[in-house]
Amino acid sequence: MPHGPGCSPLPLLLIASLTLLVATHRVLAAPSTLRELAQQRGFHIGAAVAIPFLADTDYRETLRHQFNICVAENAFKMESLQPYRHQFNFNDADQLAAFAQTNHLRLRGHTLVWHSQMPWWLSHGQWTRDEGLRIMEEHITTVMQHFKGKVYAWDVVNEAVSDQAPWGVRTDNFWGKTVGADYVEKAFEFARRADSQAVLYYNDYGAEGAGPKADAVFQLLKQLKAKNLVDGVGWQSHFESGWKADKGYVANAQRLAQLGLEISITELDFRFTLPSTPEKLATQAESYRSMLRFCLSQPNIKAMVLWGFTDKSSWIPHFFKGQGDALIFDQNYRPKPAYDALADVLLH
Ligand code: XIL
Repeated sequence: MPHGPGCSPLPLLLIASLTLLVATHRVLAAPSTLRELAQQRGFHIGAAVAIPFLADTDYRETLRHQFNICVAENAFKMESLQPYRHQFNFNDADQLAAFAQTNHLRLRGHTLVWHSQMPWWLSHGQWTRDEGLRIMEEHITTVMQHFKGKVYAWDVVNEAVSDQAPWGVRTDNFWGKTVGADYVEKAFEFARRADSQAVLYYNDYGAEGAGPKADAVFQLLKQLKAKNLVDGVGWQSHFESGWKADKGYVANAQRLAQLGLEISITELDFRFTLPSTPEKLATQAESYRSMLRFCLSQPNIKAMVLWGFTDKSSWIPHFFKGQGDALIFDQNYRPKPAYDALADVLLH
């Protein structure tokens, strides 16, 4: 029976399979996200989350597609979690924990003991050393037990080391004045006891590269490590655009590795003076590139977490007059040159 080419099932089948092949190829060839690229290298790349923004679809989608680790920008701080004495409010923090769990992002806890963003009842009270210790212990224990299995690492203590001589644990902040310089060690003891599985971090700024503050932090960590109280150190890394990793960063990372400590970049951003220009964005991209290259070159650096991800929501304009645009997505969630630089480093 004669039949024309139009009726034959063979060409139709061929066309159908070709179309499928092209479509599959398009999907496979689509540019990968930072998350996918980091995952391939066993690295964690992440961002701090402002809970109210989770209601915004673009924000949520970008966060879960681009990152495999996150942290709350404010929701895990003491003023948020224990607004009244013995009364804990986990609403916002739980929201992030659920988001992280659903989307398979690791979650960092920031931060248990800090002299800033403390609840009013605490900062405005008069306390003996013993009361201070009990308050600290109750807070650490309650919060860590609540998030057991959900938060993999905690910034147990934030910003305890002084910025000037005599370098060492501050005795001029709330905890130093109330408890004394051993408040850091006490906090780590309580944390170890509350969740023996959690990775315990000391987190600070200005101690990332070489310098007297980095040396003081190192000495503190050495003492804590000798008692098996600490596992890692967080380098906040709020830097000015133009920053480059130098030998001081490598040497510091290596001596911490020798001590048996892991490192995470915990609050990365590169700020510059507004308005933005293509040149400034290019310089910023090179700073991000330098940081990620450095991270990947040091086996004990486990994660690189940005302090936000979109310029729509960043602490910089509120804290550094005239500065901003410090992150890798613009106000409309469009990737900036800094994003491309990070993707490029992960690809090569
Ligand atoms: C900042 C938040 O980004 C702001 O929203 C808040 O008003 C103040 O704190 N070092 C830290 C972070 O450890 O907790 C700080 O976060 C930024 C500096």
